[in-house]
This record gives sequence, C-alpha cells and structure tokens, in this order.
Amino acid sequence: PGAGLADRHGRVATDLRVSLTDRCNLRCSYCMPAEGLDWLPNPALLTDAEIVRLIDIAVHRLGITDVRFTGGEPLVRRGLTEIVRAVAAMPQRPRMMLTTNGIGLARLAAPLAEAGLDRVNVSLDTTDPVRFREITRRDRHADVVAGLAAAAEAGLVPVKMNAVLLRGVNDDEPVELLRFALERAYELRFIEQMPLDAGHTWRREEMVTAAEILAGLRAEFTLLPDPDARGGAPAETWVVEGHAGVGGRPAKVGVIASVSSPFCGACDRTRLTADGAIRSCLFSQEEIDLRGALRSGATDEELADLWRKAMWAKPAGHGIDDPRFLQPARPMSAIGG
Ligand code: GTP
Ligand code: 5AD
Ligand code: SF4
Repeated sequence: PGAGLADRHGRVATDLRVSLTDRCNLRCSYCMPAEGLDWLPNPALLTDAEIVRLIDIAVHRLGITDVRFTGGEPLVRRGLTEIVRAVAAMPQRPRMMLTTNGIGLARLAAPLAEAGLDRVNVSLDTTDPVRFREITRRDRHADVVAGLAAAAEAGLVPVKMNAVLLRGVNDDEPVELLRFALERAYELRFIEQMPLDAGHTWRREEMVTAAEILAGLRAEFTLLPDPDARGGAPAETWVVEGHAGVGGRPAKVGVIASVSSPFCGACDRTRLTADGAIRSCLFSQEEIDLRGALRSGATDEELADLWRKAMWAKPAGHGIDDPRFLQPARPMSAIGG
C-alpha cells in the first residue's frame, strides 16, 4: 500500500462515507422490522471529536476529497452541524454531502448549509402519503416533502432524490416520481434493491430492475445519453429532454443498477461505521476496528496505516450473483447506504 487508500485491484478510494448513527426514525419495510433493531449502545459510538479526527486523517493523510454523512438517519445525531463546521474548517476542505430520509431537514437545511454542507440526497420512494406510511410505517410524507424544499431553498443543490421501487408496492410509480422531481428541479435516481435488509428477505426475482424502470420512464419521457463523465458514481444518468434542472442546466434522471450492472470496478469508496470500523465495501465480510486503536492512544499515522491495510483487502466486487454470496452481518441501516 502507498500513501493513499489503494487496493490490490488497482482502485483508489477518495470518497469516504461516514455513518453517524445506526438509528432511524422511519421503519422502511425493506430495511428493518417495525420494532427497530438492537441499536449500538452509546459508549460504542465514536464521539464527535473522534469522528472529526478520523476525517482529518482521511483528508490530510489518505487523499479523501469527498465526505458523505449517512446513518441510519444522520439528522438524528445531535452533533451533526458542529461536525460539518469542524470539517469545513480543515486546511484541505473536502466536499461534504449528506444522505438523509429528510425528516428534520426542514429545520436543519439552512444551519447545515451555513456550517459548510455542500449537498444533500433525500430518500423518497413515493409521492403518495398513504403509500409512504405503508412503506415506512410512519406518517411523515409531508415532513420529507418540506425537507426537500428547504434543502433547495438553502442552496444545497442539486438536491438529489433516491427512490427504491418494490414489486407490487410502488413499482407503478417511476413516471409519477420523475414528474414530482422535474417540477421541483430535483435530480431523481432509482436504486435497485440490494440484499442488505435486516430480515434477509431479498430475492433476485422480485427485484425491480433498471431495465424495467427505464422502459417505464421511456413510455413518457425522452432520455438522452448524459454527456458528463460518470467517474466513480454509482448512478448512470440520462438527460430528460425538454426539462430544465437547477440554474437552467438540463434535467437529469439516474438509475443505480448495483445488481444488474455492478459498478464495483470503478468504486472509489471507503466506509467508517458509527462504532468506528472501516468497511472497504458495502458487502465486506470483514471490518477493521479503528476505535480500539484510537482509544488506546494510536497516533494519526498508525490509524492511517490501519485504514490503508483495511482498504488494500477490498474485494473486487459484491458477488451478489455468485451462489456462495453471503449477506454481510451488518444490515444497510448500520453500514450507511
Ligand atoms: P452522489 O451521486 O455523488 O450524490 O452520491 P451517491 O449516489 O453515491 O450517494 P447516495 O448516498 O445517495 O447513494 C445512493 C445509493 O447508491 C445508496 O443508497 C446505495 O444504494 C448505492 N450505493 C452507494 N455506494 C455504493 C457502493 O459502494 N456500492 C453499491 N453497490 N451501491 C452503493
Ligand atoms: N437496497 C437498495 N437501497 C436501499 N436503501 C435502503 N435499503 C436498501 C437496499 N436493500 C436505500 C434507502 C435510501 C438509501 C440510503 O439506501 O432507500 O435511499
Ligand atoms: Fe431508515 Fe433508511 Fe432504513 Fe428507511 S432505508 S428505515 S430511512 S435507514
């Protein structure tokens, strides 16, 4: 391993995803059971200061240029705004993004933007409040819609919207969701469902595929190839003909086809869990604990070295289609999407 976060397959991680908590205020049926999960106990969680220190190491020693805060639901973490402010003050300030379910964003979008957050991605799987309650088991559709609007208002643009389509639940909604996003200049991305749910109920045959979603959209919209480079982005994007996005730029729609068209070969991510473990991949079977070393007095360079070793072992791909595939022990909500 060299100075940055290289792996044995020739990839280099420059994008850090930090899970701030495994807790969530929704209970999406495809993610967790109605009663929630066994949350991490508070002493297991990294403190705000520990998180800021690890981000500092990632940025100044390991070449990280982009930091994304995830959860669970990151807005439930009280110190979030101050963490953002501390990262914004770093000499090599990284870009900072947030992936959220949008609850509480109406109140927090402006303070987060002021503290230095650059963008948000908000999850919303349906335009229908009744369906929203069925999917998330909470009656909070209006809060999410208000959160999206507040994010755009606060300049956290382009606001991206993430939607997972579920067979027999909301798979009839791609066009409706895209209309909702286009009217408000949000960039919508559809996500193929992955085997990361706490209940281990995912079945390949049930998954709504990228091809199906695109066919549905093309019945109503003309999608043109996106001239902008994709880089390591999970979403493949199209320009929606005849519609304008933020600042008059062309409107776009994306599909994150992690299962039917894996992008693992271009992956540039490393992950830090809320309890201080490095995951080299969403689907890693192994984690490297940094918290123990951190709390027993390791130096910045020692921590950086542990991180490099963790990333060197990054698997080539998720292997979902391999018959020997095993879901990771941590569910999506405890890894951060
Ligand atoms: P931007 O497009 O730069 O805003 O970021 P993003 O799309 O990476 O961020 P977001 O957190 O919105 O991710 C959207 C979804 O992409 C996640 O919920 C995951 O389903 C999927 N995703 C993110 N990272 C990975 C990854 O490393 N592997 C796979 N297979 N899917 C990922
Ligand atoms: N597969 C794909 N996406 C998922 N999400 C949650 N669970 C899964 C899964 N099993 C999505 C959420 C949110 C983002 C963080 O990840 O809907 O948009
Ligand atoms: Fe919460 Fe996200 Fe899981 Fe829904 S998918 S329950 S918003 S962590």
